[in-house]
Amino acid sequence: MRKKLLMGNWKMNKTLSEALSFAKQTDEIIALAVKHNIDLGIAPTYLCLKDVKENVNENLIVSSQNVHFEDHGAFTGEISIPMLKDINIDWSIIGHSERRTYDNETDEKCNKKIIALIQNNMTPIYCVGETLTQFENGDTKKVIDTQIRNGLANLSSEQVKNLVIAYEPVWSIGTGKNASKEIAQDICKFIRDILLDMFGEVSQDIRILYGGSVKPENIKQYLSCPDVDGALVGGASLNIDSYKQLLINII
Ligand code: PGA
Repeated sequence: MRKKLLMGNWKMNKTLSEALSFAKQTDEIIALAVKHNIDLGIAPTYLCLKDVKENVNENLIVSSQNVHFEDHGAFTGEISIPMLKDINIDWSIIGHSERRTYDNETDEKCNKKIIALIQNNMTPIYCVGETLTQFENGDTKKVIDTQIRNGLANLSSEQVKNLVIAYEPVWSIGTGKNASKEIAQDICKFIRDILLDMFGEVSQDIRILYGGSVKPENIKQYLSCPDVDGALVGGASLNIDSYKQLLINII
């Protein structure tokens, strides 16, 4: 039985004081998540990771939104895995569509990051998804297949067992146009079938999230799908009341 996961992606939002104010209001929701056996997490900006981590209960997953694959070196503006580990951060989102669009994040780069994270016993949340044009041209499955196979190349079944995948159609992110639950289930099942082909039975343990305009009022339908194990939520995770409502609605 896969444990449900609700993950908030804060993107480039919240100053340190705003992030801390949110962190200090999380005790009640974390207790609720623990009681109902749901994993709960947030991904603040790099700048807020250390303080947020120090001010929340250890049961709240605190994830970075990206990381570099090299340990150290001449990579101006980047953050490395040892830097994250040093402040007790052991999760990272990889390949978010905004990074693919604005920062030339390729499947190959994602693959290097995922391998480096797993080698350091960290958990990647690997994001995949098609653009509106690809969706309209009926290319969704072709695109997802390529992103999954290239992003997860050179990994063994043993290595991928804690990996998390997020299916986020680009046309649904931040647009208010959430995918239907039929689309979410169809593509998440398709992803699980690729994982089965690549890694065998461990595919049944890998959590697959849906993301893209998930709100308190539509989250429940996704979690009712057999192959959707949780949600990656942007806008609706920024406000503590709405974040709490997302959780309550999947209990
Ligand atoms: P959204 O973002 O919920 O604001 O659409 C989702 C994401 O980008 O992870």
